[in-house]
Amino acid sequence: MHQVLQSCPELAALLEVGEIKGKSGSIRKISSMSTINNLEVLHNLCTQIRPKRTLEIGLAFGGSAMVLAASYRRRGIEPATQHTAIDPFQTSVWDDTGLIALQESGLRPYLDFRPVLSSVALPQLIAEGATFDLIYVDGSHLFEDVFVDLYFCTRLLTDGGIVAFDDSSDPHVNKVLRFIRSNCAFAYEAVDVGPLRADKGASLRYRFARAFGRVQLTAFRKIGPSARTWNSAFRNF
Ligand SMILES: C[S@@+](CC[C@H](N)C(=O)[O-])C[C@H]1O[C@@H](n2cnc3c(N)ncnc32)[C@H](O)[C@@H]1O
Repeated sequence: MHQVLQSCPELAALLEVGEIKGKSGSIRKISSMSTINNLEVLHNLCTQIRPKRTLEIGLAFGGSAMVLAASYRRRGIEPATQHTAIDPFQTSVWDDTGLIALQESGLRPYLDFRPVLSSVALPQLIAEGATFDLIYVDGSHLFEDVFVDLYFCTRLLTDGGIVAFDDSSDPHVNKVLRFIRSNCAFAYEAVDVGPLRADKGASLRYRFARAFGRVQLTAFRKIGPSARTWNSAFRNF
């Protein structure tokens, strides 16, 4: 069994049933959730870096939020809204299913939920002086939105903190990752998430995906300042 499911049996049960009742009373089939490998990596990153605070963009059915919130419970930490999740469409599109999943699993007290666009919530968090040790970017997949998420997340990450992007091979997301690699060496180094997967990165499928730049999840560790000088050189990407 995946370690993440042992750590969060409520998520295992949710995946087993495959559906959840929303606030309106209608039953929704679980979809759009992060892959089990992504969730395993998030779980293992939490074990490794023992974050004080975590942030995610994109709550949906609450899969990744449950994993990140459960990581505090597993460490015996009392709930105090350590995990912030941003999603403007939780009620209108997702019928509050993510919030219900967190509530039913007893993890809701770990959650600070912000029902607004990430482009609004992230600068608000900066203004509040918030910082995070682990950020999972899994909201809008439009280039401009992911780029804005990166801009603000870089300023919200602690030194040594990790930012992870879902759907790395999506052309919009991939373009942002190319920007990081070509222009952000001052701030970021790549993190090899292969060993943190359930297959330890050894499966043929993953090795192929990696060789062809088609992996699902890409992560970077913050190793430098949040911004470069205004007249820094620009490298095309
Ligand atoms: C792929 S789903 C997230 C899945 C979730 N992380 C999980 O593992 O279960 C993407 C989510 O991003 C949200 N979203 C879309 N645009 C957004 C934006 N501009 N700011 C914040 N969230 C956004 C959507 O409502 C949706 O819930």
